[in-house]
Formats: sequence, C-alpha cells, structure tokens
Amino acid sequence: MWAKKLGKELGNPTRSVAGWLVSKLLTVRNQVLEENAVQLCGIQPGNTVLELGHGPGLGLQTAATLLTEPTGHLIGVDYSQYMHEMAKERMKELISSGKVTLHHCDVAAMPLADSTVDKVFHCNCYYFWPDLNQGATEIHRVMRSGGLMVTTLRLSHVATMAAKRVMPGDNWRPEVYMTALEDSGFTDIRMEDKQHKNITFQAIFATALK
Ligand SMILES: C[S@@+](CC[C@H](N)C(=O)[O-])C[C@H]1O[C@@H](n2cnc3c(N)ncnc32)[C@H](O)[C@@H]1O
Repeated sequence: MWAKKLGKELGNPTRSVAGWLVSKLLTVRNQVLEENAVQLCGIQPGNTVLELGHGPGLGLQTAATLLTEPTGHLIGVDYSQYMHEMAKERMKELISSGKVTLHHCDVAAMPLADSTVDKVFHCNCYYFWPDLNQGATEIHRVMRSGGLMVTTLRLSHVATMAAKRVMPGDNWRPEVYMTALEDSGFTDIRMEDKQHKNITFQAIFATALK
C-alpha cells in the first residue's frame, strides 16, 4: 500500500503533504544525478537543450549556466502540475528573459518541432512512463541527427525500490529502456558506471540517428 502511494507520488508529485515530502527528497538526494547528467551531455553554449521530468528544477538550474550564447535555449517538460510550478518559480528570471521555456506536458506528446533539440537529459524519469516506445519515439522526433541523450540513475537504489513494488512492472530495467531507444532510431546506446566522490551511479548514452 505505502509502496504504491510512494510510486504514485514519485511518478507524478502532487500538491499535498506526500508530494511536498517527495519534492524535498528529490532536492536532497538527486542533485548529484542531475548535475552529472548535465555535465555528461557536453552542452555547447549555443545548444538547444531539453530536460525530461525535471522535478523541482535543480538540473535546469545547472544546464542554464552553460547556455551562454544568445542562441542557447533550455526547455523543460514535466507532467506534474506541482513540479511544473515549483520549477517555474525557481527559473522565473530566465523564463522572463526567454532563455528557458517550461512545458507542463507528457514526454510522449511534447509541443516541440521536429529535429530542433541538440541535447536531452533526464534522471529518475523513464521508469514512470507507461509506454517506453512512445516516449523514446517522441524524444527521437524532437532531436537533431547526431544529438546526444543522457540518462542518469542509481541502479542499485532503483532495483531496491522495484523489488518493493514502488515501480510496478519491468520498465525500470535499463535493458528494457535501451531496447526501446534502439527500436526508436537511437544508435551507440550504452550504459556506463560512473563515480562522483563516494557515489556510484550509471549513465545511459544514446545518439539520435536520422
Ligand atoms: C522521481 S521524479 C524525478 C525528478 C528529477 N528528475 C530528479 O531526479 O530529482 C520523476 C519526475 O518525472 C516526471 N514524469 C514522470 N513521467 C512523466 C511523463 N510521462 N511526462 C512528463 N513528466 C513525467 C514526474 O512528474 C516527476 O517530476
């Protein structure tokens, strides 16, 4: 019962006591994953960069500092109204200046034109997508050919949560996600172990081929 409730809040945090606690947990626990996803993307100052399921917005904040050229643009999508509003507050100056755009929408249906995004990153997000193929196909659609996507996760933590049924089904398994990426037209898909101070995490890389 608690596992189902926690999974629901992690997958779509709501404006509630549970949602607030989840937002605090994400802010404290996932900063390393967010910051490393941004670094591993190799963002160039004039890139268009997209974060999927940004949650409270820590990764958006880091990525925005790298987009120093006038053409550099950052987009975030999250289908939690609560997370969308929290990130909007965090990024309000950069939204006003036009550097950042946030969309309250599903990864599977983004209001973005075809082949316009250079880099995509996300952390702790794909396990909650009901249809990985639909999500991967939509990401591939919006990416430029040769664009890089990076996903960071702490696999041991995710496996522990999955064993407790916080995430139902098998979509949390990296190999299931990586197969969906391959089927959607990504290439050079690989998972690497990474270290940040005393924290081990995994990074999945995929390049959009068109
Ligand atoms: C566990 S939280 C992770 C948040 C942040 N990336 C982090 O690591 O702290 C998952 C986030 O992904 C969002 N999310 C899950 N599935 C989504 C989907 N299909 N479309 C858009 N956002 C989604 C949720 O609303 C939530 O904000």
